[in-house]
Amino acid sequence: MTKIAIFASGSGSNFESIMNAIEEGKLQNIEVTALYTDKANAYCIERARKFNLDVHINELKNFDSKADYERKIIEWLTAEKVEWIILAGYMKLIGEHILNAYDRRILNIHPSLLPKYKGKDAVGQAFESGDTVTGSTVHYVDSGMDTGEIIEQGTCPIYKEDTKAQLEERIKAIEHQLYPEVISKIIQ
Ligand code: GRF
Repeated sequence: MTKIAIFASGSGSNFESIMNAIEEGKLQNIEVTALYTDKANAYCIERARKFNLDVHINELKNFDSKADYERKIIEWLTAEKVEWIILAGYMKLIGEHILNAYDRRILNIHPSLLPKYKGKDAVGQAFESGDTVTGSTVHYVDSGMDTGEIIEQGTCPIYKEDTKAQLEERIKAIEHQLYPEVISKIIQ
């Protein structure tokens, strides 16, 4: 069994798709030790309860520095013998402490065809761009914002009549397939 930790800050639909893939046997030999979140009221916490999964809530505002905040996270990761970190809508840059401890063992999913539309509101950036195709990217995490080596992408059309919400939903549907598949390939 390879132990992974999933980091999320928001809704957690990608987190849930990974948990479902494990339950359904599509993602094998992987154990999620806990959900790690930096938001005490994030909906991903509710989702974790459904799976009886431990949740670590760690808010930056309770620490003097990002380094101290990350040291706390590393304490938990070490205690749980976590081998890989999976970012699923985690809204903070990973700092040097965690990066050093988990070099090339952190994955992220980003809702654009990187290197296009890095950073915040990637779906909105694509929606406004006039592009007819977008998608999602799974990549390794480095110290930059969505700059790490690309592993795999899934694509979908942008239709003229789309609302941003419809586009968001189409991209999420791709992500829920793509992320568990890539995790399975890369981690095993
Ligand atoms: C996803 O679109 C992911 O690509 C991005 O943040 C979003 C998280 O959505 N990094 P959810 O919380 O998994 O629903």
